[in-house]
Amino acid sequence: MTAEDNRGIVLASRPTGRPTPGNFRLETVVCPSPAEGQVLLKILYLSLDPYMRGRMSAAKSYAAPVEIGQVMEGGTVAEVLESRHPGFKPGDIVLSHSGWQSHAVANGAQLRKLDPAVAPVTTALGVLGMPGFTAYAGLLTIGQPKPGETVVVAAASGPVGSAVGQIARIKGARAVGIAGGERKCAFIRETFGFDAVIDHSAPDFAAQLAAACPGGIDVYFENVGGKVWDAVFPLLNTFARIPVCGLVAQYNSEGDFEGPDRLPVVMRQVLSKSLTIRGFIQREFVAQRPAFEQEMPRWIAEGALKYKEDIVEGLANAPEAFIGLLEGKNFGKLIIKI
Ligand SMILES: NC(=O)c1ccc[n+]([C@@H]2O[C@H](COP(=O)([O-])OP(=O)(O)OC[C@H]3O[C@@H](n4cnc5c(N)ncnc54)[C@H](OP(=O)(O)O)[C@@H]3O)[C@@H](O)[C@H]2O)c1
Repeated sequence: MTAEDNRGIVLASRPTGRPTPGNFRLETVVCPSPAEGQVLLKILYLSLDPYMRGRMSAAKSYAAPVEIGQVMEGGTVAEVLESRHPGFKPGDIVLSHSGWQSHAVANGAQLRKLDPAVAPVTTALGVLGMPGFTAYAGLLTIGQPKPGETVVVAAASGPVGSAVGQIARIKGARAVGIAGGERKCAFIRETFGFDAVIDHSAPDFAAQLAAACPGGIDVYFENVGGKVWDAVFPLLNTFARIPVCGLVAQYNSEGDFEGPDRLPVVMRQVLSKSLTIRGFIQREFVAQRPAFEQEMPRWIAEGALKYKEDIVEGLANAPEAFIGLLEGKNFGKLIIKI
């Protein structure tokens, strides 16, 4: 392999609001030869995730931004082409964090070997990877659903939301999903087995949500914010738990949130209803990892938990697919096949 063979998508400029294709640039990027302890990887699959919008911004956050001209960051599944690490040989398939590029050099210590005979390798980026773990740890640690309770989650066709609703049902709770459009809603109802699904684009969305939650909401797994939060908030029961996982409806906003200050109303309800609202980043729950690795594959094997992937071909199509992810154009876990 020569340096010219390594194609990567770099951050060309920082977006203002909605990203555009011009914020990205496809170029030939340098891929050094592997040193002792390293391997040369050919990237097979790239995960596209909402958090990447945050990495495009220089605003202070829980992780450092991607610099202008740097390859965009991301989780990947790759094949080992050359190894200078005793734990890997050419042909091995690994989980790495190599970003939006066709080849990369990685430290062997940071790789996890995948066995294609155990599960399709793409699941390491979705249901058996970071998003699935986010759902598992956030719901069970903070949400703590109990039999008979009502759990509500939006972005319910995606890898986090679909797992949240199905795990809630495994724990004996009612799962109410929220998604954009009838096609997604039907799939969530029929394939993921949610008890009710509401289309957030319906004009009477808030009324439909209230009707689907006659006993109120005990757990709201917050993935989106915005008007979904507005509809959920009055329905929260006393002692409701709200794991705040993501706010994708706001990721393209520039902090210019308009409207009256609702904080006094929210705080009054937090107090009078004894609400638990807790944000989290999945890596904080590393102690739950062994339980996740044991339970999640078993639930899939038993047919209790299903997943959907949305695989787009071609590295060059990653920017457009990513822009669409923030607007609900994906249908399932978004993955680029390089
Ligand atoms: N805290 C953590 O550690 C952590 C880790 C992973 C993911 N997350 C968060 O989890 C959430 C879901 O991630 P994912 O990977 O599963 O994404 P995803 O569901 O595959 O994609 C995002 C979905 O958000 C929905 N959406 C976008 N704008 C919306 C709006 N204005 N109102 C309502 N829904 C909207 C869209 O679905 P519809 O078409 O159904 O609207 C879109 O498909 C994101 O907020 C992400 O940032 C957090």
